Amino acid sequence: MTDSIGIPAAVAAIVLIAIIWRLASNRRSLPCPVWLRWLVELDNPFTKTNRAAFIVETLALSSGMKVLDAGCGPGRLTVPLAQRVGPNGQVVALDIQPGMLERAKAKAASAGCTNVSFIAAAIGEGALPKNNFDRVVLVTVLGEIPNRAAAFAELFGTLKPGGILAVVEVIFDPHFQSRNAVLKLAESSGFRACAFFGRSLAYVVHLERPVGGLNMKKPGDA
Ligand SMILES: C[S@@+](CC[C@H](N)C(=O)[O-])C[C@H]1O[C@@H](n2cnc3c(N)ncnc32)[C@H](O)[C@@H]1O
Repeated sequence: MTDSIGIPAAVAAIVLIAIIWRLASNRRSLPCPVWLRWLVELDNPFTKTNRAAFIVETLALSSGMKVLDAGCGPGRLTVPLAQRVGPNGQVVALDIQPGMLERAKAKAASAGCTNVSFIAAAIGEGALPKNNFDRVVLVTVLGEIPNRAAAFAELFGTLKPGGILAVVEVIFDPHFQSRNAVLKLAESSGFRACAFFGRSLAYVVHLERPVGGLNMKKPGDA
């Protein structure tokens, strides 16, 4: 009896929190609060395209690659990424909130990952090295960033030519970004969309930094 009431109550509580957070975020971009990190760590049981294992699988990672987990939160993807690239590879986990990074650090340590480093910074503010990463993952982060054009410009520059940015969005996220909005931003930043998984309300899109980068379009170009 308790269980049959407990599950709907938990779902109702999650929906209520999501609505309140979405309304609050309409006024200004708010990062997911640290006290809500457990919600992120659920690894979304409802949406396949938001699960860490699925996202990692799409990336065609190999041993020795360098990956940026941009907006890593509590490290839901950090550990699986680090395990996939192996001891010769490297994962950099970046987040604007120290409380999230602490949780990600603890997870990486308890999984025995020695190939992860952490950066406390905001995407788009210039903390990232140029031409450095083979892959960048941006999972339910984009809508929390006030200056998305600056963020995409930095992510473009930190990828190696031929590297891939995977953007993941899911409608349950209060900051959900539509596929069209992401593709528009990607195009104006010089990316080329190269793969799409899922549906319009829950998806992974891969954006490539073209080799040579000569087809960079700027606002106003024909
Ligand atoms: C909804 S959580 C997603 C966490 C993780 N990517 C995942 O899917 O498990 C969004 C995270 O993005 C971080 N974030 C928001 N704005 C950011 C910014 N401008 N730069 C870096 N991280 C940011 C938040 O602190 C939060 O940890």
